[in-house]
Amino acid sequence: MSDVVVGLDIGTSRVRAVIGDVSESGVFQITGVGTSPSTGLRKGVVVNIENTVRAISQAIEAAELMSGTEVSRCMIGVGGTHIDGLNSRGVVAVTSKGRDNRVIGQEDILRVIDAAKAVVIPMDRQVLHVIPQSYIVDEERGIKDPRNMIGVRLEAEVHIVTASVTSVQNVVKCVNRSNLSVDEYMLHSLAAAKAVMSAEERDLGSILIDLGGGTTDVLVFAGGAPLMTAVIPVGGIQVTNDISVVKGISLETAERIKIDEGCCWMGLIEENEDVILPGVGGRPPVVIPRSEICEIVQPRMEEIFNIIRSKVEPVLKSRQLSGNVILTGGGAQLSGVVELASSIFNTQAVRIGIPGNFGGLIGEYRGPDYATVLGLVLAANEHHEAEDREKPPVEAAGTPWIGRLRGWLKEFF
Ligand SMILES: Nc1ncnc2c1ncn2[C@@H]1O[C@H](COP(=O)(O)OP(=O)(O)OP(=O)(O)O)[C@@H](O)[C@H]1O
Ligand SMILES: [Mg+2]
Repeated sequence: MSDVVVGLDIGTSRVRAVIGDVSESGVFQITGVGTSPSTGLRKGVVVNIENTVRAISQAIEAAELMSGTEVSRCMIGVGGTHIDGLNSRGVVAVTSKGRDNRVIGQEDILRVIDAAKAVVIPMDRQVLHVIPQSYIVDEERGIKDPRNMIGVRLEAEVHIVTASVTSVQNVVKCVNRSNLSVDEYMLHSLAAAKAVMSAEERDLGSILIDLGGGTTDVLVFAGGAPLMTAVIPVGGIQVTNDISVVKGISLETAERIKIDEGCCWMGLIEENEDVILPGVGGRPPVVIPRSEICEIVQPRMEEIFNIIRSKVEPVLKSRQLSGNVILTGGGAQLSGVVELASSIFNTQAVRIGIPGNFGGLIGEYRGPDYATVLGLVLAANEHHEAEDREKPPVEAAGTPWIGRLRGWLKEFF
């Protein structure tokens, strides 16, 4: 079986594809990176199939060309304002069926997770992930791995992420129409966290903020697992829109000015810094102080961070987060974003999340806007390895056993 794996992030601003492969020496490395502008989505949700299929094909082709490999399957990200997260718990009695004592086994864990996910979910929604936070064995709380412990009562606390069935189906349809099959899918922010967060940050309690074009995604970790998921329907596109409307310039010009001269922290603007706005309709260009751009950008970014703070505040009342605030997504490249987040969250522990060094084409993916797709390709590789490891003898392949394994992997991601 080929060791080639693919991550595909279908975002509102850009589609990104990354191909990874295990080298002859057994080391995983990135061999292809492709991206293309995305015009078929609104706030993370597919609204135009044709445009999305085109953007996916372009990104995949570019990555294929770079890696010299043709790909047929991928791990996709799921995001958008339809995403919801909730915490749940389940309890089971530890059975000793077929065993001589009450030692907790894999079957008990599967049963308790099943019990925890038995919450009422509307017909039009599906469960994307069920992630165990911790277990309680009899009266002992905060257990990360209860396997082989002895107990009578096993309780699991889990975080459940759900998504709109039709939104997921539309993304899958676009990928299939681009001649790719979908192996698995993963919540965007969970993928980004995989690429940029350390285990220590997850344990201590941290907030991942993915500043995308159409949405801003938030994932709060505590005790090593997700505690809260939120998708806010405001992103970098609004910032560009604000500049365009206030200054009476096209969206393209506004986007360029935001990227080259934008800033969301007035304290970073030096006196005498000027920005040239091109004239519209034959009018001459105008020179304005850069602070005028900041006066437009900063309030919108403040609004985004304030919404996040209000969403996270209830969590902060019950759990102390002593890790970091980690910023990813294209918007994390905006000048002043760390300073603004520090001020709003009242902490110096703010950093930009850049994917680590996964070998291969390092320069191509080491930006915060590649966090999600890198996480996806890493997850694809882990799934692939797990499949290889657990694969039964060839004659047994394709039995329900495999189906169960795949289900298991999916739930624990
Ligand atoms: N250097 C930069 N400075 C400021 N903003 C930037 C910069 N580079 C990119 N952006 C902004 O980042 C946004 C795109 O981010 P990203 O590529 O992470 O979004 P996406 O994944 O396509 O969208 P979403 O996650 O919302 O579906 C755009 O609004 C873009 O203007
Ligand atoms: Mg994104």
